[in-house]
Amino acid sequence: MKVLYVCTELYPLLKTGGLADVGAALPAALQAAGCHVRLLLPAFASIAAGVRADAPALRLPARAGPDVLRTLETPPMLVPGHVIESGQPVYLLDAPALYQRDGGPYQDAAGQEWSDNAARFALLGWAAAALGQGADPHWQPDVVHAHDWHAGLAPLYLKLLAGTGPVTPSVFTVHNLAFQGLFSASSCAALGVPESLFNIDGVEYHGLLSFMKAGLQFADAITTVSPRYAQEILTPEQGCGLDGALRARRERISGILNGVDYAIWNPATDPLLNAHFDGQCISGKARVKRDLQRLLGLEERPQALLFAAVTRLSEQKGLHLVPAMLPELVERGGQLAILGSGDPAIEGALREAMACHPGQAALRTGYDEALAHCIIAAADVILVPSRFEPCGLTQLYGLRYGTLPLVHAVGGLADTVTDCSLEAIDDGSASGFVFHDFSASGLLGAVRRAFALRRRPADWSAVQRHAMQQRFDWQQPAQAYRSLYQSLLGTALAHGSLVSS
Ligand code: ADP
Ligand code: GLC
Repeated sequence: MKVLYVCTELYPLLKTGGLADVGAALPAALQAAGCHVRLLLPAFASIAAGVRADAPALRLPARAGPDVLRTLETPPMLVPGHVIESGQPVYLLDAPALYQRDGGPYQDAAGQEWSDNAARFALLGWAAAALGQGADPHWQPDVVHAHDWHAGLAPLYLKLLAGTGPVTPSVFTVHNLAFQGLFSASSCAALGVPESLFNIDGVEYHGLLSFMKAGLQFADAITTVSPRYAQEILTPEQGCGLDGALRARRERISGILNGVDYAIWNPATDPLLNAHFDGQCISGKARVKRDLQRLLGLEERPQALLFAAVTRLSEQKGLHLVPAMLPELVERGGQLAILGSGDPAIEGALREAMACHPGQAALRTGYDEALAHCIIAAADVILVPSRFEPCGLTQLYGLRYGTLPLVHAVGGLADTVTDCSLEAIDDGSASGFVFHDFSASGLLGAVRRAFALRRRPADWSAVQRHAMQQRFDWQQPAQAYRSLYQSLLGTALAHGSLVSS
C-alpha cells in the first residue's frame, strides 16, 4: 500500500505545533505497519535544508489547476528525495517565489497572513493531486492523505484531474477545524476551482472559498485526531460553522487518536534533560525541577507544587483563564511556569499577572524545544485548559513524565485523562485533573484538587505511577489508518459532475 502524506510541517525541520510532531511520527509508524509512505511538503527553507534530493525533479501538469503554475517565472517542480536525519522519503514542492522567504510558513514576521496563501497552498493541493494521478512514473500512491486546510484542495483537485477516469482515493484529516483557509470568492478562478462548485454543497463558506470545506466535501474519508473531537465537530458549538456539512457526511468521519513518539518523549533517555527518571526511580525528576526553578528564577522550593504550560498563546488554549486563578495558586504555595508564543494580548495579560509574583511565577516567550522538554519534565502538573482541543499532545507528554495533566473536558483531553475522583483513585484509573466548567473558577476548582491530592503523598505517587505507565503508542493509530486506507481502495468514484463544469 502506497500512501502520499501531504502536510506543511515536519519535526524537527519546521514546527509551529502538534501537526509537525504527527508529521514526523505517523508516517514512520505507517511504514512499520507495512505502508510505503512518501511525504509531500512545500520546500520551505528549513525543510529544504533537511532534505537530500535523489532523483531528477518532475514537472507538474499545468492544464487546469492554479494559475500560479503558469505565471511563476520558474515553474514549480517536484523534487523526490529523503529527509537526511530519518531517511523518510519525501517530495519537495519547489517554488522558491512562494516558499523561500523570511517569516513563518503561514504568516510574515509581523504575524500577518501571507497575502498569496491561496496560491501557495492551492499549489500544494495541486501537486498532491498530480502525484495521486500519476505525475511520477516511478511511484503512484494508492491513497492520498491530506492534512488540515493547507492541503484541503487536494481531494477536489484529484477529482478534477481524474475527469471521468479512475481517481485515487483521498483521506482528509482535520487537526484543527478553527483554521479554515478562507479566501475571497474571486480567487476561485485563479485557483482553477469551477464556479459551479462555489455553493453551499461545495466549497463556499459564507461567501468565501474555504479550503477546509473543500477537503471535507471531496475527500473519500474524513478523520479527526481524537474520537471525542470527531463527535464534537458535528455540533453547532464546536462545528465552526461547518457542522451541517459535517453531519451530512457523518458516515465518512472517524476519530483516530494521535500517539506519542516515545523515542523523543521519554524521561529515561531524553537528551534535553540534565537528569533522567522513570516510573521505578523518580528521583531525577526533583533534580530537573530544581534546575528549572534556578533557570527561571523561581524560588528553589522542592515542595512547591509546580504548575506549567507549554503552548501556543491563542484563544483556543484557555490561558486567559490563568490570571484570575494565579493569586490563589501562589497563596497556596504553588508556582507557575509558562512557555508560550502567539497572541500579544494574551502574552501581555499573562506577563502582567505573573510579574506580581516574583520568584513564584515565570513566563518565557518564543519557541524553545529544549525548554519545552525541561518544563514538561520538571513540573508537577501540566495545564491544558483549552476551550477546545482536537487532540492535544502536551497532556500525553505530561503523563509520560509523571507530570499530571490538568485539562478541560474536551476533545482529545477528555479522551486521554481520567480525573482524580475518589472512585478513580480507588480503582487505580486516575491520571490527572479534569474540569468541566470552562471558566476561571472551573479551572481553580481543579487546581484546588491538585493541592488536595498533593497532601496525600501516597495517593499522589500512585496516580503518578499510573500516569507514567500509560502508553499512547503510534502503533494502534497507524493500524487504524491502514485499515481505513484499505477500505477505500477501488471505492473512490470519479466525480463526473466536476468535469462537466
Ligand atoms: P497545537 O498543535 O494545537 O499547538 P499540541 O498540543 O498538539 O497543540 O502540540 C503542541 C506542540 O508544540 C507540542 O509538541 C508542544 O511541546 C509544542 N510547543 C507549543 N508551544 C511551544 C513553545 N513555545 N516552544 C516549544 N514547543 C512548543
Ligand atoms: C492541532 C490541534 C491539536 C492536535 C495537533 C496534532 O494543532 O490543535 O489538538 O494535537 O493538531 O494533531
